[in-house]
Amino acid sequence: MKKILFVASEGVPFIKTGGLADVVGSLPKEIDKRFFDVRVILPKYRCMPQPMKDELQYVSNFYMDFHWKNEYVGIFQAEVDGIKYYFIDNEYYFNGFKPYGDDVIFEIEKYAYFSKAALSILPVIDFRPDIIHCHDWQTGLVPVYLKERFQGSEFYRGIKAIMTIHNLKFQGKWDIKSVKDITGLPDYYFTPDKLAFYKDANLLKGGIVYADAITTVSATYAEEIKTPFYGEGLDGLLRARSNDLRGIVNGIDYEEFNPATDKHIPHPYNAINFRKEKGKNKRDLQRELGLKEDDKCMMIGIVSRLTDQKGFDLIAYVLDELCQDAIQIVVLGTGAEQYENMFRHFAWKYSDKVSANIYYSDPLSHKIYAASDAFLMPSLFEPCGLSQLMALRYGTIPIVRQTGGLTDTVEPYNKFESKGTGFGFLNYNAHEMLQTIREAEGVYYDQKREWNKMIDRAMAVDFSWKVSAGKYQEMYDWLKP
Ligand code: GLC
Repeated sequence: MKKILFVASEGVPFIKTGGLADVVGSLPKEIDKRFFDVRVILPKYRCMPQPMKDELQYVSNFYMDFHWKNEYVGIFQAEVDGIKYYFIDNEYYFNGFKPYGDDVIFEIEKYAYFSKAALSILPVIDFRPDIIHCHDWQTGLVPVYLKERFQGSEFYRGIKAIMTIHNLKFQGKWDIKSVKDITGLPDYYFTPDKLAFYKDANLLKGGIVYADAITTVSATYAEEIKTPFYGEGLDGLLRARSNDLRGIVNGIDYEEFNPATDKHIPHPYNAINFRKEKGKNKRDLQRELGLKEDDKCMMIGIVSRLTDQKGFDLIAYVLDELCQDAIQIVVLGTGAEQYENMFRHFAWKYSDKVSANIYYSDPLSHKIYAASDAFLMPSLFEPCGLSQLMALRYGTIPIVRQTGGLTDTVEPYNKFESKGTGFGFLNYNAHEMLQTIREAEGVYYDQKREWNKMIDRAMAVDFSWKVSAGKYQEMYDWLKP
């Protein structure tokens, strides 16, 4: 039995700000329990939903040397769907109203603490993993600490580390002097072949340098990040480590996202009866959101973190034009104020056409996947993207910019061969996007049979974790034969 430990800053059902949490929440369940014992370590955030906090049981506590202090480390545990979770408790670091704050140096200190604590609790919980699987910059110091601090002791010697990049944009960078002070790592680590990055120290870079294997969440993104445009300054390092870098596309939880059994949607449907049932969800949602009730009107859904990564600049640029068409747009999500206000503005200006829901709600997200005809994702970059997978599962046709995981999961419509599961455009250009949306409108309004056949194909593709979980298992076996 191989022991695998996930270390991450968020995970469903305990805490979520984005796709990382979905992956951390769903992948461990899909790894074959006959051969692998997968456990997960998360921070015990005060902002976790109360029902989840009520699930946690106290295990133990101790004090750990950190940042010139003797810092408290509490351990809690919980079990969900057969997976054991451990939580690091520290009120100084994890008491924010949101998991992540804006004070960069505090974030770095918080996750440096978390990374060191995650390693330190292992003897206490009596779990010696063969492999520690780290996710994103917040856990970048785990491989670093593991290879240096901890390898000296019998318990930790030989543990391997994997670094999975969900988003290269966020790296955890701050001036070398402060990071040295916080982490307690000696000068040796702060050279350009290790943590130093121009004038700063870079935690994700540390993870990439010291991990035994590196993965990212789609094959295309794994190639893209070796180029300057997508590489965020780390393309050189990623090229140098390309033998140890692989892209494994994410899946989604096919139980949770299933239009036939979804508790959140008023009219469940499947690949056979969607022609009759799917539209009923649209009518209900139009009524709920105060849009014009018209089940013929093409509804375009957007469920997203509202950040520049997701291509909202393109939408801002042509939304007035788009609103001249016979379409409706339903948005759900929060993020950068400029995009929140942009959607609020358009919802005010075109109140029967645009619905801006500037918050996050699981039930509403499911209703949008079920009700919409198309799903818009014009990302500037996209490591994998999960919403297009949810859209496909609900027979909602993705309109995407062909980048990263969107390239790997959405096959653009080919009218000559009647192939494809969505619509795609290549260049980050607002009018190219608009033209592609209009191409979709054309098929939706004038070639209903073609549109429905596209739904058939979309609902038939399989992005459950089955295949990808197998690839992670292969990698675990390769690292620890
Ligand atoms: C990040 C990426 C997204 C990916 C998710 C899970 O949120 O931006 O593309 O799907 O992580 O890996």
